[in-house]
Amino acid sequence: MSALRGAPAGVLELQRSSSYQVPEHPKHRFEEVEEALEIDDNEQSRRQKNYDEEVDESVREDMSKLEDTFPGIIHRFRLVNRIGEGTFSTVYKAEDLLYDHYHNDWDVFAQAQQQESWPSPSSKKRRIDGEPGQRKQPRYVALKKIYVTSSPIRIQNELELLHDLRGCKSVCPLITAFRYQDQVVAVLPYFPHSDFRIQYRTFMVADMRHYLRSLLTALQSVHEHDILHRDIKPTNFLYNPELKEGVLVDFGLAEREGSEYTSQCLCAHQTYVRRSRILSSYYSKNPPTSGLSNGYPKNDSRSSRRANRAGTRGFRAPEVLFKCTSQTTKIDMWSVGVILLTLLGRRFPFFNSADDIDAMIEMSSIFGTRRMKTAAAMHGQIFETNIPTIGEKGYSWEKLVKWSSCVEDLTESEQQATRLLAGLMELDPSKRFSAEEALQHEFFTQPVHHDVEWGGHPEESGESGEEEEDGDDEADEVAML
Ligand SMILES: Nc1ncnc2c1ncn2[C@@H]1O[C@H](COP(=O)(O)OP(=O)(O)O)[C@@H](O)[C@H]1O
Ligand SMILES: [Mg+2]
Repeated sequence: MSALRGAPAGVLELQRSSSYQVPEHPKHRFEEVEEALEIDDNEQSRRQKNYDEEVDESVREDMSKLEDTFPGIIHRFRLVNRIGEGTFSTVYKAEDLLYDHYHNDWDVFAQAQQQESWPSPSSKKRRIDGEPGQRKQPRYVALKKIYVTSSPIRIQNELELLHDLRGCKSVCPLITAFRYQDQVVAVLPYFPHSDFRIQYRTFMVADMRHYLRSLLTALQSVHEHDILHRDIKPTNFLYNPELKEGVLVDFGLAEREGSEYTSQCLCAHQTYVRRSRILSSYYSKNPPTSGLSNGYPKNDSRSSRRANRAGTRGFRAPEVLFKCTSQTTKIDMWSVGVILLTLLGRRFPFFNSADDIDAMIEMSSIFGTRRMKTAAAMHGQIFETNIPTIGEKGYSWEKLVKWSSCVEDLTESEQQATRLLAGLMELDPSKRFSAEEALQHEFFTQPVHHDVEWGGHPEESGESGEEEEDGDDEADEVAML
């Protein structure tokens, strides 16, 4: 029995109980009643106000507010700290006070919590009633409070997809969820992880391999379920360098493949259909004479194309920017490529555009106009630019990684990683590696272990290079349609 069901008005409704009781027998939380819980006034005074981590005053206030406005939450959780604040939610670390009352088959992280290098807070641990003298190992969860401004359908979508993905390796499972009026709190296992912004500077190629293997394993399962994550980026992949494992979180923008299709994009057609459509287009029949078209019609009577472009700046795939209406799971693979480029290039963020047009300019500086035009045409779009610094041919990945990381030569292992990078950051989604294919790449199956400690400085900028010589990067070129 699932606790989730859609209420008539599209409001997320979780099964409710008349009053809160600790279950007599341990059982699955999803079988249990998960409505916000009634509490008596005395409970307020029993509230635990000590924190076992150093907590900012403003964070304490924020946590108290959640405890005050979400009845009964203190019966189950002791809020420890605020660990994340995003556009759509605030995430808190909390001790799971009723851990022992349930079957915790989701808890593949128990081991992680016991690791010496990820010590559990030592002092002032609260014990569950009735177990005097016995010092319990605190069990932590992450409470994701989804902002009330999020649409109920969006919240329901996130929880349902997480529910569907339970049991998938390297995907953070959903333990349960609560609703009180318009507030929704998702409960996830707490996964200790490092801060990518600091961690990436120390990553050797071997570390990149562990990181990517774990991320690709998560994506392989997600994509097997025909689900696009749509927001792959370091803050949504919680990586623990001690365990060499990570978990994928944040399915707030995720969707089932095909659910957003408005009309079939040109890229979804056979090559010959695409070719004939492009050849018969007005643009092909009336090519701009000066090399550049004379602008665009002021009063274009055609309706503007609509496509889902949700995601994070710098991680969006080219087809998302080109408003492809048949986006696939391959959009996530591009984002994995951006992460690998960040790691190899030692720069975060690697792309730093203000908007979609800027993002296209960044991409064209790498790929060159010729390949960008081909990529745009695949989705029935025209790419034009008069920016003089953007060349026609672009650069090879190897050159780019060298400039970015300020080295003269790449090690053999870096070269191998760069070959994987080329397969991930492929403009044509149909040629881009899937998660399964990427995991079969020589980078994982026949790893070259020649690695040298990186001695550069992330702040140093690479000198801008010249456009690739003819013939040098011919292999990188995307064949015209
Ligand atoms: N299960 C978890 N364990 C530990 N930290 C978490 C967990 N889930 C989320 N976080 C932290 O909270 C941040 C925001 O969570 P996320 O699900 O990405 O929310 P948002 O939709 O607001 O981006 C993450 O980047 C991470 O630092
Ligand atoms: Mg996030």
